[in-house]
Amino acid sequence: MFNEETFAGAEYDIADLIELVGVEPGPVLDLGAGPGRHALPLARAGYPVTAVDTSRLLLDQLEQARGELPIETVQADMREFRREKTYQLALVMWTSFGYFRAEEEHLQVLANIRDSLQADGRLVLDLVGVEYLCRNLEPVHLTEYDDDRLLIERPLLTDNLTRLENEWLLIEGDRVHRTEFSHRVWSAGEISALLARAGFEVLGIFGDFRGGLYDLEAERLVVLAGIGAP
Ligand SMILES: C[S@@+](CC[C@H](N)C(=O)[O-])C[C@H]1O[C@@H](n2cnc3c(N)ncnc32)[C@H](O)[C@@H]1O
Repeated sequence: MFNEETFAGAEYDIADLIELVGVEPGPVLDLGAGPGRHALPLARAGYPVTAVDTSRLLLDQLEQARGELPIETVQADMREFRREKTYQLALVMWTSFGYFRAEEEHLQVLANIRDSLQADGRLVLDLVGVEYLCRNLEPVHLTEYDDDRLLIERPLLTDNLTRLENEWLLIEGDRVHRTEFSHRVWSAGEISALLARAGFEVLGIFGDFRGGLYDLEAERLVVLAGIGAP
């Protein structure tokens, strides 16, 4: 998942995202930051970043890459991380929102973000919409890598089209590595309702980071939200 190509893609997206959100350099919270695909270009653009992730391994990679850049790493669960009125912008990128079983846990994450944002702060959720999945999901998807490894993905929409269950089989020579994960998926309307429950005002829904329409061609569901009236 984290290679030269996906790092370059994120750098490109961040330039568009900064323009779309229109915030001046100020503190940014990157939840589920991974190895810093977004934290690194943001910090290079002058935004101090707090990168939160549960994975020590990925945070170690980010710490090695950050050099003197203003990136703080925090190993924490997004259901628990909260810093009162600190950030100008919060990001949850590449479908890093949706990992939990209970909707209340997602609501808790949004409440933490809301409390961590300054009064004029903004939140960007980068998701894949259930609308896209319904049109494009293939029951089996095969990826062949240059080094001959094969990845077989077997995704399934379950629970009345609200969860994506995934099985990945990575074939490396004679060895097969198997992993499963499950993800909550929302439509644009459902995620707007959840954000409203958490006290956010949806400022825009886009199909990409350049502000493209969220329509039947959109591959991403990019939600821009601000703190609504208390
Ligand atoms: C799909 S990766 C995306 C990483 C990064 N946002 C990016 O765009 O490259 C999801 C990340 O979320 C992290 N993560 C998963 N559950 C988490 C949790 N409960 N709290 C914080 N981070 C979590 C994972 O460790 C992983 O780094």
